[in-house]
Amino acid sequence: MVGRTLIRGGLVITASDEIHADVLIEDGRIAALAATGTPAAEAFTAERTIDATGKYVIPGGVDAHTHMELPFGGTFASDTFETGTRAAAWGGTTTIVDFAVQSVGHSLREGLDTWHAKAEGNCAIDYGFHMIVSDVHQETLKEMDLLVEEGVTSFKQFMAYPGVFYSDDGQILRAMQRSAENGGLIMMHAENGIAIDVLVEQALARGETDPRYHGEVRKALLEAEATHRAIRLAQVAGAPLYVVHVSAMEAVAELARARDEGLPVFGETCPQYLFLSTDNLAEPDFEGSKYVCSTPLRPKEHQAKLWQGLRTNDLQVVSTDHCPFCFVGQKELGRGDFSKIPNGLPGVENRMDLLHQAVVDGHISRRRWIEIACATPARMFGMYPKKGTITPGADADVVIYDPHAEQVVSAVTHHMNVDYSAYEGRRLTGRVETVLSRGVPVITEREYTGRAGHGVYTPRSTCQYLN
Ligand code: URP
Ligand code: ZN
Ligand code: ZN
Ligand code: ZN
Repeated sequence: MVGRTLIRGGLVITASDEIHADVLIEDGRIAALAATGTPAAEAFTAERTIDATGKYVIPGGVDAHTHMELPFGGTFASDTFETGTRAAAWGGTTTIVDFAVQSVGHSLREGLDTWHAKAEGNCAIDYGFHMIVSDVHQETLKEMDLLVEEGVTSFKQFMAYPGVFYSDDGQILRAMQRSAENGGLIMMHAENGIAIDVLVEQALARGETDPRYHGEVRKALLEAEATHRAIRLAQVAGAPLYVVHVSAMEAVAELARARDEGLPVFGETCPQYLFLSTDNLAEPDFEGSKYVCSTPLRPKEHQAKLWQGLRTNDLQVVSTDHCPFCFVGQKELGRGDFSKIPNGLPGVENRMDLLHQAVVDGHISRRRWIEIACATPARMFGMYPKKGTITPGADADVVIYDPHAEQVVSAVTHHMNVDYSAYEGRRLTGRVETVLSRGVPVITEREYTGRAGHGVYTPRSTCQYLN
């Protein structure tokens, strides 16, 4: 029995409203809201009261793109479900959707079972799964129907990484046709991996081995081309499409054009593309390896187009693609050959704060912050309004956020299991103070009060963002 908790006096921000309100929580759910100071609010009573005067009261973040313990590039992403979800909570995120992996030659079911075993009993916050489909054949397509029924309603395919996760256009079309029937959502890694591999080989033959060449061979045009192709394949299949980790302005233009045509296509970008650039990839002494991910970081001029896309709703979601590899021993696998650097950046702890900084800097409004980081990911992946908002009946996943606190991001103080921060030394205004997950305090005034195993698996309905 969790009892009642009352959050008094804060500014409650959702995707649709900002209101000074008291929030009553009972049995892990939002029981009621009432404007602060009104008789209705004064009538609220609870065993525990949190004073949120001068603070924001926001829904817990929904990070719809993480890779805990992902086997990749001959090693494993360094955060486990235990360390990664704890770090997420520290950063104000209360739900993650991680990617279970189908290995080539194996079933979706085997991959999903493996991911359940990794996560169960270990998570500090709630979690769901997408499924990476790397081996499309008749059995796989049938299994997709079953997974949708049991709450795994989205499937990632790769136009990149030949020989690993890659699907050809025919396999993609078949999966899209199936998702058009079963209500699943195809999530696309849109880069022309066949062409990129040619450019990688040619770059290495020229002796271009430094991390910055990772950004040069994975060209923006090849992201845009793949994005265009994925959009048209989805159109032919009559299926919706969600393009993950969009970094190139040319790819945003493809999404915008398709949306102007009325197609149900959606785009996600990530903080690293909004705040970092090829300047980071070019850092000397192999430091650039810390910023190797795919799609790659782009020259700075792409950032303005990504912010614009987030404002015009041509991009709907900001997720982290959290896929950490330590510099020592992991990123270092690619010394002398950038193509051997494990791809991925840490960030699950930083997303809510970086996007709040974007509010401070004037890129987005406060409500848009909550929309792209909480509400829309919850709706896109079938968890709304249980997750992603503050409304009676919703899970009491709530963050008390201090918009005036100052912090300096650093690997010394972060909680992710990785030996560097992609945002080292960055000054941010705003910081998470207290985090409730289904009413249970996971972070209490900047102390960790959660536990591994509190977080539960969250089955999802199909996409709620279509019309
Ligand atoms: O570099 C990245 N993004 N690593 C994670 C795997 C993926 O493609 O999302
Ligand atoms: Zn098998
Ligand atoms: Zn990807
Ligand atoms: Zn990813």
